[in-house]
Amino acid sequence: CGIATAAPTPAPTSTLDAVLERGVLRVGFDAGYQPFEMTNKQGQYIGFDVDLAKMVAKEMGVKVEFVNTAWDGIIPALLTNKFDVIMGGMTVTPQRNLRVNFADPYIVVGQTIVLRKEKAGEIKSFTDLNDPKYKIAVKLGTTGEQAVKRLIPKATLLQFETQDDAKLEVINGKVDAFVYDLPYNAIFASQNQGAVVHLDKPFTFEPLAWAIRKGDQDTLNWFNNYLRQIKGDGSYDRLYKKWFES
Ligand code: ARG
Repeated sequence: CGIATAAPTPAPTSTLDAVLERGVLRVGFDAGYQPFEMTNKQGQYIGFDVDLAKMVAKEMGVKVEFVNTAWDGIIPALLTNKFDVIMGGMTVTPQRNLRVNFADPYIVVGQTIVLRKEKAGEIKSFTDLNDPKYKIAVKLGTTGEQAVKRLIPKATLLQFETQDDAKLEVINGKVDAFVYDLPYNAIFASQNQGAVVHLDKPFTFEPLAWAIRKGDQDTLNWFNNYLRQIKGDGSYDRLYKKWFES
């Protein structure tokens, strides 16, 4: 009888290789998070993350496909291969990092507070909101929700599926405050100056990064080197100016 030889185990395919083979980079995000990913009047996705994703795909020589996914279920969707990467302004947290790998942060933000105007004199920082008489709206599954639970635990917390619903509650005076990422709140407040006031000093530290499935060094290596390149060659700065300074 012959000598038993173990069948060679095929090298595990990285997400990067799968993308190149498919010819499409599938990007998961949750649209409505201005200025990172929004839908314009023509129904197209636009924003900082959208432009970055397009640049990444172009560099890889593949097409890009956006997979709009509710934030609350976005990590499970990544883990079940609904898309290749989350490019959706995801904050790197130790808890999320147990389940996914993050590329190097591409921007740093923090939580801020948008108040209904009537409360502006009374509330000067997040600590003033720490009372059951104050109602705070957050978006489900966000670091805004986590920040309120951790740092403003006595306040009355109201969770909303979309940031638009949460935002409306503050505009209509149904809740006292909305806690979310600074860039979003800056735009929200500037577009509703009669109704709300922005306490724009962040009270958390939040690096945002692209998330991929764990154990995929190839893809992580490509993303990190790509980020270093665009941060050094001016293309990141151009995009930043376009979406954050205009
Ligand atoms: N940075 C916050 C978080 O990680 C909010 C991100 C929301 N992103 C979105 N595409 N809706 O929870």
